[in-house]
Amino acid sequence: MRRTADPLDLDDIAGRAIPPVTELHRLAMQLATQAGELILAGRDEAVLDVDTKTSAVDVVTAMDLACERFLRDQLATIRPGDGFYGEEHDPLESETGVRWIVDPIDGTVNYLYGLPDYAVSIGVEVHGVVVTGAVARPRTGDVFHARLGEGAYRNETRLLGSDPADLGMSLVATGFGYGADRRAKQGQVVAGLLPQIRDIRRLGACSLDLCNAAAGTVDAYYEWGLHEWDFAAGALIAAEAGLDVRRPQREDGLLVVAAPSIADDLVAALERLMPEDSL
Ligand code: IPD
Repeated sequence: MRRTADPLDLDDIAGRAIPPVTELHRLAMQLATQAGELILAGRDEAVLDVDTKTSAVDVVTAMDLACERFLRDQLATIRPGDGFYGEEHDPLESETGVRWIVDPIDGTVNYLYGLPDYAVSIGVEVHGVVVTGAVARPRTGDVFHARLGEGAYRNETRLLGSDPADLGMSLVATGFGYGADRRAKQGQVVAGLLPQIRDIRRLGACSLDLCNAAAGTVDAYYEWGLHEWDFAAGALIAAEAGLDVRRPQREDGLLVVAAPSIADDLVAALERLMPEDSL
């Protein structure tokens, strides 16, 4: 397996206007795979160099920074002028209409602790619409990916979500932010939802929660207070797998992704439980 990326390995698409989505898709998959190899190889060293961000439990490892820098540098060479919106550095405005939305390590706490569920997430937007996305899970070597209107895949396997009979028989994933106040509210919502569903899962990586919903290994996922880099790729993958995707209507708003058979009931249950200012 190669550990470094050579932009010359990719077709020379530098300098062109907006390439076909197939090109952006191929590049997103290739970069996510290469970045995944990078974070996997550098994990043991990276977790010795850890800082905190929005709270004492919101960590950033040296590899979050290095991986985002790697992706940004690669894209600056391969697609100069494209925008870049990543978790760890200031955004770069797009001059081409294309913008890359990147979480270099989604599931940083899992990465820190040695748990396997972390991922590189890359969504690609053209004129404000996410047209392709790739989520690489380096511990298993899987790449989840989708193109708008073309279905969702784990590697070559088509993903079609699940079809639970009702909300009461549904396995629902969720996540929690890093601030204590939000967490307290999120805990109350989970407590209210738990008696109405089969069970809850908290994996620790939003992009993989969305891919799991796409794969049908959970029936739904919801969280509020997410950032675009958490869900840009995964929400497209889930939508392309046939899930009902309700994106946040405002910053900090609620994301709900659910099998169509339970989506309305889950949203209604959440609306009853959630604080008014979080919907
Ligand atoms: C976090 C994970 C987590 C979710 C948090 C995110 P990070 O992203 O996706 O599952 O619950 O809201 O911030 O910090 O690991 O990139």
